[in-house]
Amino acid sequence: MVIEQTLLEDELGDILEKGLCQAGLTPEALSERADVSAERIRDAIDYRYDFTAPELDRLAHALGMNPRGVQALAANRYPLPVISGLPFCLFPLRAPHGLGTANAYLITDCRGGEGVLFDTGPDAMRLRRAWPARVERVAAVFLTHAETEHTGGLPEVRRLHPAAPVFAPIGAKVNGAAGLTDGARMECAGYVIETLATPGHSEAHNAYLVRARGAPYAAPLLISGDLLFAGSVGGGYFCCKRLREQVARVLRLCPPDTVIAPGHGPLTTIAHERENNPFAT
Ligand SMILES: [Fe+2]
Repeated sequence: MVIEQTLLEDELGDILEKGLCQAGLTPEALSERADVSAERIRDAIDYRYDFTAPELDRLAHALGMNPRGVQALAANRYPLPVISGLPFCLFPLRAPHGLGTANAYLITDCRGGEGVLFDTGPDAMRLRRAWPARVERVAAVFLTHAETEHTGGLPEVRRLHPAAPVFAPIGAKVNGAAGLTDGARMECAGYVIETLATPGHSEAHNAYLVRARGAPYAAPLLISGDLLFAGSVGGGYFCCKRLREQVARVLRLCPPDTVIAPGHGPLTTIAHERENNPFAT
């Protein structure tokens, strides 16, 4: 199946702001290390920048970031990979969010019928609008974290699919959800779903590594929530450093052909983000 892509979640200003937080630096401290004025760094965070390539390299180096990704974002040329190899159908359920999208995902065996849902989008209307007609039943719902843009559609899902169990990170405030901890492995509707506890964006945040039970060597799917995006990472609202550690862990442990389905922005792969993501080092 051909999956329609969407815009990147972040641009240069966003990744500089996130990089500062992860490095524990102020614009002034970065200015000294990178020999770029603090005023220009602040302007860049406000999306006004005119850095030269050597300046971008110095900024990336001072923030411990991947210069290839920083240069690509600054030039508005961040590449995206071809998505292939999944042994099941993946439906991104996208809702407008700011200038980009908030994404939920539905997986099925391609004949339709029953699916497994990851996050729910912000509300019932957006969910209904994006829902593929051929998927009639939800076997289970897995939530990455409890934020309205990702869980607001849950009451509607429960109303339509009252038998579907709901799983969420331990500590997430979701009534009636069962908590999943790091390493939990579940079999559900023909899929093997492994939980990776990935605190950083929020304290209670999970990513899910999904394989088809009958195709253990095919490309897996990583539902990455607000941990890892194409060309960026989530905001570290709980802890920027923990988020960076979890990004490194996930990039290291997932196979290169893993398809990444992030909470915002387009699909990508582990191999692609290892090479290009500004936060992959
Ligand atoms: Fe989000």
